[in-house]
Amino acid sequence: MRWTKVSSRREFLRTASAGAMAAVAFPSFLNAAVGPTAISVPGKEGLIVRSYRFLDLETPVEFMTDWITPVQHFFVRNHMFAPAAVEGKEWKLAIGGQVEKPLSLTLSDLQSVPVHSVTNTLECAGNGRSLQSPKVPGVQWGKGAVGNARFSGPSVKALLEKAGVKDTARHVVFRGLDVVPGKVPPFVRSIPIEKAMDGDTLVATQMNGAALTPHHGYPARVIAPGWAGAASCKWLTEITVQDKPADGNFMIPGYRMPNQPVKPGEAVKPEDTHSVTGLTVKSLIAGPSDGAKLKPGAHVVRGVAWAGEAEIQRVDISTDGGASWNPAKLGKDQAKYAWRLWSYPWKPAHSGDYAILSRATDSQGRVQPESAVWNPSGYFYNACDQVKVYVQA
Ligand code: MTE
Repeated sequence: MRWTKVSSRREFLRTASAGAMAAVAFPSFLNAAVGPTAISVPGKEGLIVRSYRFLDLETPVEFMTDWITPVQHFFVRNHMFAPAAVEGKEWKLAIGGQVEKPLSLTLSDLQSVPVHSVTNTLECAGNGRSLQSPKVPGVQWGKGAVGNARFSGPSVKALLEKAGVKDTARHVVFRGLDVVPGKVPPFVRSIPIEKAMDGDTLVATQMNGAALTPHHGYPARVIAPGWAGAASCKWLTEITVQDKPADGNFMIPGYRMPNQPVKPGEAVKPEDTHSVTGLTVKSLIAGPSDGAKLKPGAHVVRGVAWAGEAEIQRVDISTDGGASWNPAKLGKDQAKYAWRLWSYPWKPAHSGDYAILSRATDSQGRVQPESAVWNPSGYFYNACDQVKVYVQA
């Protein structure tokens, strides 16, 4: 059975008072907001449960006010059961396939390889899927299957160089220790050798300066920075170098985008698709909350913006439903692959309804569109973000 919790929190926020909005950053408040049927996951209080059987937890956008997302607020995406407590001492990482010298590495072997750190905005390809129209199947993520964390560990490159990559190598396959129920195919995916050998692609053992937690792949996970989260295999146990991409459901038909834009609702043949890679340009409004009732006076619209392997160049804000736009101020914290905080001071001139929009532009000239490009799996939803607020004296 799959338990989901999708709507009541949003409804609550719509009707909450301006006073309550000020408290929105506190997890206990949001727990109350999701009502008595909400399921609380220890260590992840305040997150929205999208699926409990295979754990899928979403971060409320109101939490996205920090450059580094604390681990307890970081979303979780599991396609199957997480492995039962993995013992770091017994864990091994096998490296094989098209290599000169297959390896079996322990956690302490990994710790003897130079550590590299990357601050990466990890986003699930399906983030925002519930906003696609027409609806598409899959976990109905709202806006919060995304977070920004500092990941550390040896680079995949350093480990593959130890094993000696053969000239025939084209793709690198990762396998995790997930518990695969019944006929569900295992979560096995590959990335091209060029991305694997980019020195920023990690076998991370740390997240925000501490050992990975079980939810995020303890003791080691891949971080393919700037790419859809599916490339960042958790509970890593095997790396296989191949001359071709991995087979299996999570490579085809899973995690693929149409080669050409398709009409909303149209089916696409697998041969007319390609595997998802880098994230697109996107911004989210963390506050004020959608449905907030505000007092007249000074307010700050704030949020986050990211662009995968590209850089955020600007974020523009509209407070009149898209009729006019003004630049937001970008936060000082920045790093390749990491989101930027942004803020925009706003003083509404009169009482009434306001539609506030955010629109990011990146270093590749990509601009968040007014409406997202539909695709059958609802990947990479990135329409300009929007919240509606009511100002009342
Ligand atoms: N790795 C394994 N082994 N099993 C999974 O189900 N989910 C992937 C990826 N790595 C997954 C996995 C997906 S789709 C995403 S978006 C990210 O993990 C989410 O990482 P997080 O749960 O640490 O936020």
